[in-house]
Order: sequence, then structure tokens, then C-alpha cells
Amino acid sequence: MTRPQNAYSASPTNDLDAFWLPFTANRAFKRAPRLLARAKDMHYFTPEGRAVLDGTAGLWCSNAGHNRDAITAAIKRQAEELDYAPAFQFAHPKAFELASRIAALAPAGLDRVFFCNSGSEAVDTALKIALAYHHVRGEGSRTRLIGRERGYHGVGFGGISVGGIVNNRKFFGTLLSGVDHLSATYDRGHQAFTRGEPQWGAHLADELQRIVALHDASTIAAVIVEPMAGSTGVLPPPQGYLERLRAICDRHGILLIFDEVITGFGRLGHAFAAERYAVTPDLLTFAKGVTSGSVPMGGVIARQSVYEAFMRGPEQTIELFHGYTYSAHPLACAAGLAALDLYRDEGLFERARALEPLFADAAMALKTLPGVLDIRTVGLTAGIDLASRPGAVGGRGYEAMDRAFRDEGLMIRITGDTIALCPPLIVSEAQIGEMFDKVGRVITAVA
Ligand SMILES: Cc1ncc(COP(=O)(O)O)c(C=O)c1O
Repeated sequence: MTRPQNAYSASPTNDLDAFWLPFTANRAFKRAPRLLARAKDMHYFTPEGRAVLDGTAGLWCSNAGHNRDAITAAIKRQAEELDYAPAFQFAHPKAFELASRIAALAPAGLDRVFFCNSGSEAVDTALKIALAYHHVRGEGSRTRLIGRERGYHGVGFGGISVGGIVNNRKFFGTLLSGVDHLSATYDRGHQAFTRGEPQWGAHLADELQRIVALHDASTIAAVIVEPMAGSTGVLPPPQGYLERLRAICDRHGILLIFDEVITGFGRLGHAFAAERYAVTPDLLTFAKGVTSGSVPMGGVIARQSVYEAFMRGPEQTIELFHGYTYSAHPLACAAGLAALDLYRDEGLFERARALEPLFADAAMALKTLPGVLDIRTVGLTAGIDLASRPGAVGGRGYEAMDRAFRDEGLMIRITGDTIALCPPLIVSEAQIGEMFDKVGRVITAVA
């Protein structure tokens, strides 16, 4: 009997059917794909070799730029030396080294690092640590979690429960119970065309006080917010807002979690947004930029006091029943160490801070283009709201993203009809100009 030729021996095809793309309009994509075959520094290259300027650091993650030699060499060396080691009851040296390096970058007091593989896992890990923390301290009635409207905390059940994006929630059943939400901090009427943190809105933090009054602090475990909400359109925190949240949490023994999956590793001109805002959370999530996007990794940085609360009972007892097969994966640790070296040696966080005014000027110059409703900037990040077409919310944004790629050779990110720009931190002044020129032409074309 002759064996049929199997898939492995068949020549590669261009069949796009099998891959179900995440967060993608699959049918439109497969009709006219946007393929990326290669990358270097500030550019992607299509399979035909066309250069595409990266206006979004991949997906908010390639903060040191793409295919940096130091990172790829570190990954290669690590793969040759130790491909995998479990982190349950064993460990490899680079896991400790990277944890120490991350702790050194974090605000004082945050110095225990739990590793996972993505932002979503980081969020669910932080929520679980918060619940278990109260439990081990004898306050097991603190089970309620507080998120915020327009928050994005990944796609795990914990993350979508505390998150505030309707399409990420409505298809997926009852979610976690016992979750409340603060109001979003954005109000165009009060904040339009603000550079950096808007003056209006600090009072919205006081809603936490109202929620405490409703449920009683003894039932509330934690509040989770992004210091700057990136995925729902770049929403910097109102001046004083995070301080107020911190004060209310302190008053009531509630843990404050900053989701820094986007804001970590330089996006706002500091290692973490907690530093920019001089507000220290109890738990801080990170992912993306920790390896400059090169190998999946995420994690949670905890206050030492949170960690210490678990260190009780017989010494051979597992203190936290949580973890992932790939926690502290050797390739991710090697990539992380190389990325942190680049951030330090090239001063990339400081660079983001220095470029912020120029970046904001270039963004705000688009203010008078047709259909532009608002522009927000903070760090090396800009959000541009376009007016929706009647009966076709998201149509203008989608067309802008597609035209930017095909006509202008630029990658932008869209949420509905909002454009987000967040280039790698190595972006040059000339490339910032080029990027916003391209975006300006796209906005005009889709008007
Ligand atoms: C604030 C925040 N949290 C969590 C996530 C989820 O990260 P991941 O896609 O790595 O699971 C994201 C992703 O953009 C994010 O922006």
C-alpha cells in the first residue's frame, strides 16, 4: 500500500485557512492579508521586501526595536545551554538574576517577582495573589475585586471580569462574581487635546469610597487599574487620580494593583508608570517590554510584605498554589536580561522622556485634520479619536489601519475609530516626523 504524501513532505502552500487569527477580522484579513516576514530595528518587512515603519512597537512590546543583535544572540546562547528547566521545586540561575534586575527597576518596596508568560496571566496571577493574601492573613471575607470601565487586563476570566470593554465580556458568560467597576477617567468635554495628564478627573477616584460604603471594606480584596489605559485609546490618568486611589486603598486595607503590561519598561519615560506618578502599588503586573517582545514573558512584582505574609507554616509547605509550566522559561529570562541591558546601555527610558515633547507636538499638529475629535499624548504614546461613520463604528479606523499599511508603509494600532501610536523607544526624531506625516495623510484619505 502506498502511503499518501503527508503534510510535512508537501511543499509549503499559501493556504490561509487553518490559522484562526486572534482579535482580527479573519475574513477581511484572509481576502487581503497583511503579512510580515522579517524585522529589524524600527521596521517590519513584508514577504516582498517592502519596509513598514513600526508605529506600535509590534503590539506595545518591542520597546528596544526589532531583532536586536544582543537579544537574539542571548536567546541563541541560552537555547544551546539550557532549553528548559521547571520552576516548580527547581530553578535556573538566570531566573534569580532577572528577578533581581526587575526588582531593582521597580519602586522601592516592590521586590518580589513572580514569573508567568503573558499580560493576561500576569493579571490573573495578581488577582489570585491578592485574594490569597487576605486569606492567609485571616481576612478571607475580602473577595471583591474592583476594576474600571474601559480597562483592559487581558483575556483570562479574571482579566475580562475586572476589565471594562463590553465586547471582551459580553460573549463569555457570567464571568467572576463579586466584581465592581470604577468609572472610566476619560471625558472629552473636559479633557480634549490634553498633552499628558488631564487636569480634570481626580475626583473620579472617590467612587472607590462610594463602593467601599456600599459593600464594606471587609469584603474588598483589591483594586486594579492601568496607570495609563493603553488599549482603549491612550487615556492618561487625571492629575492626582492615582494618589487618591492609593489613599483610599490605604485607609481601608485594600490592595492596589497597577497593570503595567503596557506602561512598564519605558513607555512613559520611566521604568514603570508608578515612578512617573510617584504612587507605589502593592502589586504590579508586567509583560511585553520585559523581553522587548522577543520571547513571551510576564510577571507580577509584589511588595515584600505581601510575599512575607505567605511565608508561614512548615518549611516544606508550598506557600502559593499557583504557577505555570513556563514560568521563568530560560529563553525568556535570557531575552529579558539582554533587553534590560539594552534599555540601560542605550538610556531608552530617558530617551522616551526626552522625546515626549517633540512627539506630543507632532501628534497635536494633526488636530485640525478632518474628522479628528481628540488627540491625547503621554510618554511615547498618542491616541487619536476619529469621528465614526454613521452606522459603521470602527469602519474609518479599520480603513486607516489598512491604508497605513498598504499605501504608507506604516503600522498603526486601532481600537474602533481610535488610532494608537506607540513606537519602539529607539525611534529617531526624523522617524517621528515621518510617522505623523503618514498618519496625517491617512486621516485625510479616510475622511
Ligand atoms: C494593560 C494590559 N494588561 C494585560 C494585557 C494582556 O497581555 P497579553 O496579551 O500578553 O496577555 C494587555 C495587552 O495589551 C494590556 O495592555
